Amino acid sequence: MGFRFWLLGFCFWVCFFFLCCGSVNSEGFLRGRVLIDGKSAIGRIDEDFVCATLDWWPPEKCDYGTCSWGQASLLNLDLGNNILLNAVKEFKPLKLRLGGTLQDKLIYDTEDHREPCIYFSRNASELFGFTQGCLPTNRWDQLNDFFKKGGAKIIFGLNALNGREIAANGCSIGAWNYTNAEMLIRYTVKKNYTIHGWELGNELSGNGVGTRILAEQYASDTIVLQNMVQSIYKDIEPKPLIIAPGGFFDENWYKEFIDKTTPTLDVVTHHIYNLGPGVDEHLVERILDPSYLDGMVDTFNKLHEILKNSPTSAKAWVGESGGAYNSGHNLVTNAFVFSFWYLDQLGMAAAYDTKTYCRQTLIGGNYGLLNTTTFEPNPDYYSALLWHRLMGRNVLTAGFNRTEKIRAYAHCSKQSKGITLLLLNLDGNTTVHAEIAFNRARGLHHKHRSHKHKSNARIPRPHGLEGEAFREEYHLTAKDGNLHSQTVLLNGNILSVNSSGNIPPLEPQHVNSSEPIMVAPFSIVFIHIPNIVLPACR
Ligand SMILES: *[C@@H]1O[C@H](CO)[C@@H](O)[C@H](O)[C@H]1NC(C)=O
Ligand SMILES: *[C@@H]1O[C@H](CO)[C@@H](O)[C@H](O)[C@H]1NC(C)=O
Ligand SMILES: *[C@@H]1O[C@H](CO)[C@@H](O)[C@H](O)[C@H]1NC(C)=O
Ligand SMILES: *[C@@H]1O[C@H](CO)[C@@H](O)[C@H](O)[C@H]1NC(C)=O
Ligand SMILES: *[C@@H]1O[C@H](CO)[C@@H](O)[C@H](O)[C@H]1NC(C)=O
Ligand SMILES: *[C@@H]1O[C@H](CO)[C@@H](O)[C@H](O)[C@H]1NC(C)=O
Ligand SMILES: *[C@@H]1O[C@H](CO)[C@@H](O)[C@H](O)[C@H]1NC(C)=O
Ligand SMILES: *[C@@H]1O[C@H](CO)[C@@H](O)[C@H](O)[C@H]1NC(C)=O
Repeated sequence: MGFRFWLLGFCFWVCFFFLCCGSVNSEGFLRGRVLIDGKSAIGRIDEDFVCATLDWWPPEKCDYGTCSWGQASLLNLDLGNNILLNAVKEFKPLKLRLGGTLQDKLIYDTEDHREPCIYFSRNASELFGFTQGCLPTNRWDQLNDFFKKGGAKIIFGLNALNGREIAANGCSIGAWNYTNAEMLIRYTVKKNYTIHGWELGNELSGNGVGTRILAEQYASDTIVLQNMVQSIYKDIEPKPLIIAPGGFFDENWYKEFIDKTTPTLDVVTHHIYNLGPGVDEHLVERILDPSYLDGMVDTFNKLHEILKNSPTSAKAWVGESGGAYNSGHNLVTNAFVFSFWYLDQLGMAAAYDTKTYCRQTLIGGNYGLLNTTTFEPNPDYYSALLWHRLMGRNVLTAGFNRTEKIRAYAHCSKQSKGITLLLLNLDGNTTVHAEIAFNRARGLHHKHRSHKHKSNARIPRPHGLEGEAFREEYHLTAKDGNLHSQTVLLNGNILSVNSSGNIPPLEPQHVNSSEPIMVAPFSIVFIHIPNIVLPACR
């Protein structure tokens, strides 16, 4: 991730933690430094960066012979489930993006829809393998009631194929028929339901999935949406965001689309499925391979450059990301090992100034944060919650100096003026002892203390004040060391909901700041260091 290059740029390092000089690489043990640039932030995420999706797939959606959606569709999900409500509430707030492939074949049962409201049904000769489906207004009411109770922020993906014809070359032609969407939005406003953003379409950019729409047409439809929203919300606050196109990144298509939607567009969304199809045998290998993970840097970087060099004020979001497409892979994308991929994605996206990251899915498919049948949180749920509670808005450059198998991310802390580090150990044999080093930034200081900095000088470790000499660590490991486990341990204790369906508290362990950070093989560690105050975090 350009880390070595960055490393060369600095001459002076100030170490905070005592370790004997040099580094020893004896059996399964590696000593190194996490290097952090504390001078300025490289990105700034939304307060509610963590987002998850809910999809429309009916129980009949099957991939490679397994049907993994159960009753997890927006049309049939048990909204009365206590764990579900608690899981959403716990984020205060969780962003939820409602959408997916079938959103573009969904009709809303509003006044303009004069036919019976029928569910999706399987038909292999139809686009996406299903007939058109319909959202009953009373279901929309129930959903909004649930979102309100859970305190969720809603992004709704509108049907962008309405009114178009699919040409022989697979391209959708004609303008968007927005009447049905307009009716839904008017109904929503009339009912006082708060929608954080209206998103147009799903995976129709670039080459598209199933069909595609040219950037120029998509831009003009997006402007139509914005005008409509502006007029409907004329006297209504808060105003919703205009979001598009929710597809796969394609440099030329995105560039043209962003040019032509300035200044209409608030958020440009893209989707990520970089690990291959769910059926692939090599998913775990790829998840644990640092150079494979770095394969996404190019996309994040290109989109970041397009936005930086454009007059648009649109921000980048990952609108849907499930890693492995066609519903993921049971015991991989819903197991402990997936937290390496997921947290690495969150860290990398944030470092390229992505504001929000929506995980496919909150529930449904083989990649749910929650188990589709029991609603119990999978390991990634707890990873998401820890990220949400600990990683603050400002993103710092960070890297580990000894091995690519340690992925290091740092943000200003969400809970203090200090910092939070995230370290992922992709190696199954090596325990890492990490010390932390900072570039020599003017104005770097400890709370309650001041220091004169000399190059390569070690700052005396802080002591004297209650609480100051400790940092908070959250170590995540797989139950029985099994990467395919759906049970995760926090500091050695199993995380699970209790019999009332409450999400357990996530308690840190306190570690004396003079100790190096120990990162066990195949483990994930969040480290909150409240007493290190960097210029980028003030
Ligand atoms: C990495 O940091 C350690 C200190 O923990 C140091 O001894 C070692 O020389 C550094 N290695 C590289 C390649 O910079
Ligand atoms: C499936 O869809 C095709 C094309 O729309 C249609 O001709 C056919 O009658 C449908 N089959 C069933 C069983 O509904
Ligand atoms: C657009 O859709 C509405 C139903 O939502 C329909 O009444 C209308 O005729 C359609 N407009 C066009 C131009 O096809
Ligand atoms: C929506 O809010 C307005 C103003 O707060 C109120 O007058 C109206 O009754 C509400 N409508 C519904 C359907 O709750
Ligand atoms: C859900 O949990 C049950 C009980 O732990 C387990 O048997 C099942 O495999 C899980 N389902 C999925 C899709 O992960
Ligand atoms: C650990 O190292 C041994 C010997 O090199 C190797 O056989 C084993 O597969 C490694 N285990 C893991 C989990 O990487
Ligand atoms: C479950 O946890 C919650 C909060 O942690 C607590 O209030 C509740 O009493 C617990 N329920 C049971 C049955 O232990
Ligand atoms: C932290 O560790 C150092 C070195 O072992 C020790 O001198 C100090 O008393 C410890 N601090 C606390 C607060 O326990």
